[in-house]
Amino acid sequence: MIIKTSNEPFCVTAYTMHEKPLCMSTASASWMKDTLWEMNRIIVKPHMRRKGIGTALMKTLYEEAKKNGATDIYVIPGGYDITYEEQAAFYKSVGFIDSKYGEEKILAKVL
Ligand SMILES: CC(C)(COP(=O)(O)OP(=O)(O)OC[C@H]1O[C@@H](n2cnc3c(N)ncnc32)[C@H](O)[C@@H]1OP(=O)(O)O)[C@@H](O)C(=O)NCCC(=O)NCCS
Repeated sequence: MIIKTSNEPFCVTAYTMHEKPLCMSTASASWMKDTLWEMNRIIVKPHMRRKGIGTALMKTLYEEAKKNGATDIYVIPGGYDITYEEQAAFYKSVGFIDSKYGEEKILAKVL
């Protein structure tokens, strides 16, 4: 697996040896403050799921986000082809915990 990064919004993509994307994740500084980053999305191709690719992508994203000034990251799960509970289980497996922003349920992690 080859992992590549690019900016604006910050994006980590993993490719096969043949340069076909397996998955991608993006995050960027939130509108609230530069050190608080928001996960925009993470998607792994359905046939490649539950093999640790999402976890590898998130770990790279954490390291690159920290290098770019992030101290905390949050996500508001929703959408896509798996349930909120399944998304939350994934995010919790990579260190996020239940949190709230006002009345909104979010998941957050200190980097
Ligand atoms: C969420 C997603 C990125 C996870 O990618 P992945 O490569 O399958 O994740 P991993 O293999 O690294 O999973 C790590 C752990 O997360 C948890 N997990 C992952 N998918 C899960 C699911 N569907 N249900 C419950 N737990 C899940 C498990 O604890 C898993 O460990 P295990 O397989 O040993 O049980 C993938 O399911 C996906 O692309 N979903 C559609 C897009 C989406 O919902 N994105 C999140 C919202 S932005």
